[in-house]
Amino acid sequence: MSSAVGTPAPGAVQPMVKAEGVHKSFGHVEVLKGIDLEVAPREVMCIVGPSGSGKSTFLRCINHLERINAGRLWVNGHLVGYREKGGRLHELRDSEVAAQRRDIGMVFQRFNLFPHMTALENVIEAPIQVKGVRRAEARERGAALLERVGLADRVHNYPNQLSGGQQQRVAIARALAMEPQLMLFDEPTSALDPELVGEVLDVMRGLATDGMTMVVVTHEMGFAREVGDTLVFMDDGVIVESGDPRSVLTDPQHERTRSFLSKVL
Ligand SMILES: Nc1ncnc2c1ncn2[C@@H]1O[C@H](COP(=O)(O)OP(=O)(O)OP(=O)(O)O)[C@@H](O)[C@H]1O
Ligand SMILES: [Mg+2]
Repeated sequence: MSSAVGTPAPGAVQPMVKAEGVHKSFGHVEVLKGIDLEVAPREVMCIVGPSGSGKSTFLRCINHLERINAGRLWVNGHLVGYREKGGRLHELRDSEVAAQRRDIGMVFQRFNLFPHMTALENVIEAPIQVKGVRRAEARERGAALLERVGLADRVHNYPNQLSGGQQQRVAIARALAMEPQLMLFDEPTSALDPELVGEVLDVMRGLATDGMTMVVVTHEMGFAREVGDTLVFMDDGVIVESGDPRSVLTDPQHERTRSFLSKVL
């Protein structure tokens, strides 16, 4: 019974994320009504859908910030939040959940930087505190990451001295500093002034080119079309359709998708 769980068939590439019948309720309200999907290593999956359809909740489940009520979720072959033993699921301890979460970078709409720390200090905090990286090494790597997101000249600035786009790029560098295997983005450009959106999308495009596995909730259809390998349309807690972004955007198969796209394109 238990042997099949999380064990891919020989020769198959193990998905970076696999969701099987994921259900999530808040009280009596069912927000996720059975989500099935797979994200392959190096894949960029974009998720779109109306407000309240469950996109953020699903991302938070991947990261085990929310506990699912039914179904199963794996990240890189590991059951999220549980260990399977003798065909039964046992909940992981908080420390074990934290260890799982360490491999997943998350970037939110609001950048959530530490206001009393410089860009560099924000980036090196977790590697030092959580991973025990030596300060000198963390600073060196942190500076390189800030350079990678185009902020070599902003290393010693505090968040309130940075634009929204710059703050979001620091947030991305901070997530990358933990060397995640998977990056989750929840509307990373929605809080930005329009002229700052491009610089953040450029950084994300670079990450995708470098082979990072990414799940991106976004309203940026241009980004989804150009960078996404897969586009998922969610509505009311289910995946209505998914596929190659160009096909979904130009030839949606479902009325709900058509109606949504007609409002956002
Ligand atoms: N902690 C919570 N407690 C109760 N209800 C919640 C909670 N978090 C989310 N919800 C509800 O779950 C539903 C889905 O919310 P979610 O934030 O996942 O939607 P979304 O697709 O990300 O929407 P948006 O595009 O507005 O960000 C909403 O009806 C929301 O009110
Ligand atoms: Mg959301």
